[in-house]
Amino acid sequence: MSNKKKEKWKIQSQLQNPFSLYTHIFLLIQLLLISAFQPVSSQVWDGVIVTQADFQALQAFKHELVDPKGILRSWNDSGYGACSGGWIGIKCAQGQVIVIQLPWKGLGGRITEKIGQFQELRKLSLHDNVIGGSIPQELGFLPNLRGVQLFNNRLSGSIPPSLGSCPLLQTLDLGNNLLTGSIPFSLANSTKLFRLNLSHNSLSGLIPVSLTSSSSLIFLYLQYNNLSGAIPNSWGATQKKSNILPLQYLSLSHNFFSGSIPVSLGKLRELREISVSHNQINGAIPVEIGGLSMLRTLDLSNNAINGSLSDSLSNISSLVLLNLENNYLDNQIPEAVGRLHNLSVLNLKGNQFIGHIPATIGNISTLTQLDVSENKLSGEIPDSLADLNNLISFNVSYNNLSGPVPIPLSQKFNSSSFVGNIQLCGYSGTAPCPSQAPSPSVPVPPPPEKPKKHHRKLSTKDIILIAAGALLVVLLIICCILLCCLIRKRAASKSNKGQATTRAAAATGEKGVPPAAGEVESGGEAGGKLVHFDGPMVFTADDLLCATAEIMGKSTYGTVYKATLEDGNQVAVKRLREKITKGQREFESEVNVLARGPDTQIDWPTRMKIAQGMTRGLFYLHNNENIIHGNLTSSNVLLDERTNAKIADYGLSRLMTAAASTNVIATASVLGYRAPELSKLKKANTKTDVYSLGVIILELLTGKSPGEAMNGVDLPQWVASIVKEEWTNEVFDLELMKDASVIGDELLNTLKLALHCVDPSPSARPEVQLVLQQLEEIRPETAASPGPSGDDGAGVPSTSD
Ligand SMILES: *[C@@H]1O[C@H](CO)[C@@H](O)[C@H](O)[C@H]1NC(C)=O
Ligand SMILES: *[C@@H]1O[C@H](CO)[C@@H](O)[C@H](O)[C@H]1NC(C)=O
Ligand SMILES: *[C@@H]1O[C@H](CO)[C@@H](O)[C@H](O)[C@H]1NC(C)=O
Ligand SMILES: *[C@@H]1O[C@H](CO)[C@@H](O)[C@H](O)[C@H]1NC(C)=O
Ligand SMILES: *[C@@H]1O[C@H](CO)[C@@H](O)[C@H](O)[C@H]1NC(C)=O
Ligand SMILES: *[C@@H]1O[C@H](CO)[C@@H](O)[C@H](O)[C@H]1NC(C)=O
Ligand SMILES: *[C@@H]1O[C@H](CO)[C@@H](O)[C@H](O)[C@H]1NC(C)=O
Ligand SMILES: *[C@@H]1O[C@H](CO)[C@@H](O)[C@H](O)[C@H]1NC(C)=O
Ligand SMILES: *[C@@H]1O[C@H](CO)[C@@H](O)[C@H](O)[C@H]1NC(C)=O
Ligand SMILES: *[C@@H]1O[C@H](CO)[C@@H](O)[C@H](O)[C@H]1NC(C)=O
Ligand SMILES: *[C@@H]1O[C@H](CO)[C@@H](O)[C@H](O)[C@H]1NC(C)=O
Repeated sequence: MSNKKKEKWKIQSQLQNPFSLYTHIFLLIQLLLISAFQPVSSQVWDGVIVTQADFQALQAFKHELVDPKGILRSWNDSGYGACSGGWIGIKCAQGQVIVIQLPWKGLGGRITEKIGQFQELRKLSLHDNVIGGSIPQELGFLPNLRGVQLFNNRLSGSIPPSLGSCPLLQTLDLGNNLLTGSIPFSLANSTKLFRLNLSHNSLSGLIPVSLTSSSSLIFLYLQYNNLSGAIPNSWGATQKKSNILPLQYLSLSHNFFSGSIPVSLGKLRELREISVSHNQINGAIPVEIGGLSMLRTLDLSNNAINGSLSDSLSNISSLVLLNLENNYLDNQIPEAVGRLHNLSVLNLKGNQFIGHIPATIGNISTLTQLDVSENKLSGEIPDSLADLNNLISFNVSYNNLSGPVPIPLSQKFNSSSFVGNIQLCGYSGTAPCPSQAPSPSVPVPPPPEKPKKHHRKLSTKDIILIAAGALLVVLLIICCILLCCLIRKRAASKSNKGQATTRAAAATGEKGVPPAAGEVESGGEAGGKLVHFDGPMVFTADDLLCATAEIMGKSTYGTVYKATLEDGNQVAVKRLREKITKGQREFESEVNVLARGPDTQIDWPTRMKIAQGMTRGLFYLHNNENIIHGNLTSSNVLLDERTNAKIADYGLSRLMTAAASTNVIATASVLGYRAPELSKLKKANTKTDVYSLGVIILELLTGKSPGEAMNGVDLPQWVASIVKEEWTNEVFDLELMKDASVIGDELLNTLKLALHCVDPSPSARPEVQLVLQQLEEIRPETAASPGPSGDDGAGVPSTSD
């Protein structure tokens, strides 16, 4: 831990869920990393000794492992160090082990049955070791287990059915082991399980029907096993008819599945990827697959699929890869494939297609690979294919094609792309085509220079391409290095200065997770502090560094990233910035990023759901956490994919320097969310939060941004003036007026309530509890809103179900 300041990792309970709802992915909870922030509970937990049961279990755990590299050397004292950071790979909360994380440590041996004693264990990550033996069924006795990463080991035996009794299990990754037996039916009992990777084992038997109706699975990877029988045709069968199952990735490739492709796959509307390659599937491709409007990858290669390629597949405009290689598809390639305008790879090799290559393929400008070799295609290669500028791989060999190869193609690709077509001419290595003139008796003297010229041209081009490629690679590497240096430098300089710095992270949370409070220490390179608020996921800065991230939004305090961790869990990470400056433009772009795209029409039930969700969040902050938000703006209300509203950026004002806080208040005023009294008061309170809440509700009602200038008055004043003149209907968003006859009263009552919230006099404003109550009276059951997310139950009180 060198001379670097020791980092303290804090896990703090947070929004236990009034507004963070259901879906494990993408639950948005914040974490902050700030060195100026005094960890509240570090003294409390630092000295906590591991409990007796956990200590014994840890000893047994070590005893059963083989540790040739001496990784577990630090597990040497009588338990004092176990929970205060002294024992490598162990993290605790209140003296109980919550994480065992020892990947890539060269560990052998086996996993002890005593693992069942870690009653608080949430994450067991031992992947990429050489651990053998079987998976202890005692793992199934752990009520808090959420993540199991045992992939890339030598585990044998079967998967214990008891794992299905872990109520909170989210990720089970047992890929690349030596597991045998069948997939336990009971795994579907874990109703939070969203990632199941059992690939690269020797599992046999059928796919359990129970998995086909799981309402939590998003990733199902069963490729490279000995699974057999028909793929069940019960996908998407749920109790609730309105429910769309969330499955997105389904890989069943390299097994021994037979029968046909189940029609019911068409019900899995969220599917992004289907891979069933290398099985013994026969029959036709069901037209229902054409309805999967999110599908990006469809790989059915190396099966015995027959019938023709129906037009319906051409309706999947999201398709990026279509691989039907080595099947028995016949008839013509439909002209409609040209509609697949996002397609990058089209592989129809090794089928029995007849007729022409459709000219419309030339419309797919995104195409990089086209292989129609080994079919029975005839006619000429359409000139339109020469328009495919992104094509890097092309193969029409072994068909019955005739006529000249379009010149750009013959220049770009060598003979191996064209051979096996007796009547095809004009590609490299063959004589040029006879002239179009119908006088075959007069042989056209071949221009002697031409082939050589082609060669020279080709090689020059090649050299340029190679040089450009090399240059690009070098540039990329330099960029990476610079970026790394920059990050390190910044981190280092920040920890040196010891000032408010700029990291923050969020852990995923989920409905019903009991509040977890604990503190784990760790040494690390990066400066500053990582503060977890809530969430079952415990992760380190290293995990974050390994994560892929995309920017979700920027706000006054910093940038929110959506990071995908090694185990596939997604978290929201907020990186706080040092200097806080902000402009209108940034705000606007932020609003756009956060799920309010210009084209999105948001209906009233959804807007009401957002209003209620955020009110519930604020109520929670005020009443349960005693936190004043102080900077509530629409940009701090984040929406997940199911439009569940989550409040971000709360409580950050405490962490800011006085100057920064003033800046925030000033910004809020520019944006029109600031209560008028704040100009004198300088300090936010519950009533100023309610004012901001009222402004956001007005925003939802009017569709107008408070930042917009409306003849010099702010949004509340503008609305109030119109209402006063009894033009009330004029204030509402036109989009909402479409249904005004049905929801008119709701709109009016919500408007009244919002105006109440933005009353210039603080004492006249209601407390947030009352706002919530009244909103719920206006529209009692948000779950009744149309759409698949109906049962998410916005704001269902959190219990562990
Ligand atoms: C236990 O291990 C730690 C870390 O390897 C080491 O610093 C300490 O001296 C060891 N204690 C004993 C009693 O061996
Ligand atoms: C899974 O649930 C079924 C009923 O839904 C029950 O019969 C079975 O015992 C459960 N299995 C486990 C391992 O919990
Ligand atoms: C599933 O596990 C296998 C074997 O460990 C691995 O190669 C593969 O990348 C995993 N798949 C996903 C998508 O995580
Ligand atoms: C799985 O299938 C492979 C290939 O057919 C075979 O070699 C292997 O013995 C099978 N394993 C089991 C456990 O059935
Ligand atoms: C496709 O194959 C199945 C089973 O192999 C067969 O019953 C069916 O007649 C075939 N269909 C066509 C159109 O060839
Ligand atoms: C393709 O989609 C259009 C509407 O987008 C629909 O009318 C048509 O029936 C679909 N075609 C097939 C073959 O499914
Ligand atoms: C096509 O790809 C672009 C960029 O990847 C994406 O934005 C767009 O949504 C895709 N279109 C469809 C229909 O999926
Ligand atoms: C697609 O390609 C065909 C033939 O190449 C052409 O006639 C048609 O206009 C194209 N359609 C679009 C939408 O580009
Ligand atoms: C190949 O195509 C030609 C027409 O271009 C046709 O006359 C011939 O019958 C075809 N041969 C086979 C084997 O399909
Ligand atoms: C043709 O190009 C491919 C790569 O596109 C290469 O692998 C192959 O060796 C080349 N063949 C000949 C005969 O030049
Ligand atoms: C084209 O396909 C044929 C037959 O499938 C194969 O032998 C050849 O190597 C392929 N050529 C290229 C460039 O992919």
